[in-house]
Amino acid sequence: MPAFSNPSQHEQSQQVLLHPSHIESAQFDPPLQLGVMASGRGSNFEAIAQAIARGNLSASIRLLVVNNPGCGAQQRAERLGIPCKVIDHRIHRDRRALDRELVHCFQAAEVEAVVMAGWMRIVTSELIQAFPERLLNIHPSLLPSFRGLDAVGQALQAGVKISGCTVHLVTEDMDAGPIVTQAAVPVLANDNHEALAQRIRRQEHRLLPFALTLMGPHWRQG
Ligand code: GRF
Repeated sequence: MPAFSNPSQHEQSQQVLLHPSHIESAQFDPPLQLGVMASGRGSNFEAIAQAIARGNLSASIRLLVVNNPGCGAQQRAERLGIPCKVIDHRIHRDRRALDRELVHCFQAAEVEAVVMAGWMRIVTSELIQAFPERLLNIHPSLLPSFRGLDAVGQALQAGVKISGCTVHLVTEDMDAGPIVTQAAVPVLANDNHEALAQRIRRQEHRLLPFALTLMGPHWRQG
């Protein structure tokens, strides 16, 4: 993966960083300066905020951007006292115009990396190129399986016995950028959509802060 151009360096970093005690004590000075994008519930956004509050992630959320006024993520930001900006996609001419506004806001907030934590819009090169290898997405499947919409439904439909979630770098090919880390979730015999989605979400909440800690050293070297 581009984050670690030399594969053996990647392996070494994983070996060193995968130990939970290393992950939880990894400190960045100053803490990682993050932007977050969300469209709906916002549980992944809150999971990042909680990991920071508990001392499990050395970071600070400088700005949350939501595209749906009043969504769960915005309400969580208000409760947590985290700056939140609404950029309603409906008032922008096209995707590129929306993304230019996102770049403007995140640059003004001086973030060094951006997390798409349930951002339900396709992003363009305007955003991707403004944060090269610094734009992450979380997706509820073990990519490259089940890209796109309703990954949980796709997994149930396919009858797989193991699904999960993936954090990956965002490229212009949707849900196809280099994989940072993944977590597996078994599909149980009597699973329905909500039950499986909920178990995957629990792993997402653990995986996303972990992915940020994994990427931190790379961003600070860059
Ligand atoms: C998550 O399942 C994430 O993988 C997907 O959208 C969902 C967002 O959930 N991209 P939440 O809004 O963080 O609760």
